[in-house]
Amino acid sequence: MNETESLISRPAKKKDLEFITKLSAQVFSRYGHYEEIVSAWFEQGAVVTEVITEKNNTLGFAMLVLERKKVFGSRGAHLLAIGILPEHQRRGVGRALLNHMEEVARKYNAVEMNLWTAVDNEPALSFFQKAGFEIKRFESYYYPRGQAALAMSKGLENA
Ligand SMILES: CC(C)(COP(=O)(O)OP(=O)(O)OC[C@H]1O[C@@H](n2cnc3c(N)ncnc32)[C@H](O)[C@@H]1OP(=O)(O)O)[C@@H](O)C(=O)NCCC(=O)NCCS
Repeated sequence: MNETESLISRPAKKKDLEFITKLSAQVFSRYGHYEEIVSAWFEQGAVVTEVITEKNNTLGFAMLVLERKKVFGSRGAHLLAIGILPEHQRRGVGRALLNHMEEVARKYNAVEMNLWTAVDNEPALSFFQKAGFEIKRFESYYYPRGQAALAMSKGLENA
């Protein structure tokens, strides 16, 4: 059996919030109070939160929000966050969850996925570039703690 075949992605439930806030504190706190920010996103009706599990263990989560639709135009999905437990990183779990989020975005007719990631977050940059995202823009002082970020984007139409 392939190592990623046992992975299941599903919508997050209220009981997943503790996992999500703990993991956010672990992996995002150097950029700001993301356990609080992510918790607030979770409560927003417009934010889609999904978790990835393996044999009933939750390994990671991701969140997206649909961008406002331009009149007669197409819309994008904004990936707000994606995080995998450090001890389960680098075994294809993030990629499986990102693929799932792209599918979710397509169901809402999104034609592209956009995101921001920190310039100093080399694993994330490699991860997104490997998945087909391209760097579109640089912004200094993007995060609450002052780090610069890169805007990245990927078309969803030809998958
Ligand atoms: C970024 C993140 C989600 C990647 O998840 P992951 O499960 O480790 O990623 P995968 O195992 O699916 O990796 C897929 C590919 O991405 C690239 N990649 C992932 N982690 C990498 C790293 N640390 N260094 C270099 N390339 C990396 C590789 O090309 C990898 O393929 P390979 O292992 O066959 O070489 C994970 O590192 C994470 O949770 N980081 C902390 C939170 C974060 O920074 N999130 C992104 C900003 S919102």
